[in-house]
Amino acid sequence: MGNGIARIANIAIFASGAGSNASKIIEHFEQPEQSKLGKVTLIVSNKSSAGVLGIATQHQVQTLIIEKEKFFRGDGYVHELQEHYIDFIVLAGFLWKVPATIINAYPGRILNIHPALLPKYGGKGMYGGVVHAAVIAAGEKESGITIHLVDEQYDNGDIVLQAKCIVQEHDTPDSLAERIHFLEHLHYPKEVEDCLRKLLKAGV
Ligand code: GRF
Repeated sequence: MGNGIARIANIAIFASGAGSNASKIIEHFEQPEQSKLGKVTLIVSNKSSAGVLGIATQHQVQTLIIEKEKFFRGDGYVHELQEHYIDFIVLAGFLWKVPATIINAYPGRILNIHPALLPKYGGKGMYGGVVHAAVIAAGEKESGITIHLVDEQYDNGDIVLQAKCIVQEHDTPDSLAERIHFLEHLHYPKEVEDCLRKLLKAGV
């Protein structure tokens, strides 16, 4: 990837939480066919206690713990990402807004997943249980997931995939989260793969 170099793409996953999506994506690219295309080579986290770091260790993926000051006011760790030859970035439960330095260094190469049907229930502070509680409180009959490219605003870039599920009458944020996670695990790894294939085909 990059400059027409035909090699296996290095993927960095940015995550702040448990890392169930990160785990599925790592495993996806460990399969014989997908391993020819890409590999998760770095987990980036702003939380040194995040569950995702344990998953990285299990899969022998390198980790990078980032600090606020450098992320937002320095170069956004672009130098470190380049040192790791990162080609593509996947946000999977990453709570900080991605700074322009990274977006400019990785145009069209950063994906995010949001646990609702954007443009509704997105924006600053809308993550995890807060999103599901808002969906339930609004009496929505369906919710779902949105996978989108990342730009400089929260939950705003071009949508590449949405998938829906039913909101049941007695749903709690936890029971709805379970259904949403199922959809995320089903679609996110494949969507990362499809985006990589498109970039390769475009020769960028
Ligand atoms: C997911 O629901 C994702 O949509 C949101 O954060 C959650 C991360 O879950 N952005 P996990 O850490 O991958 O289990």
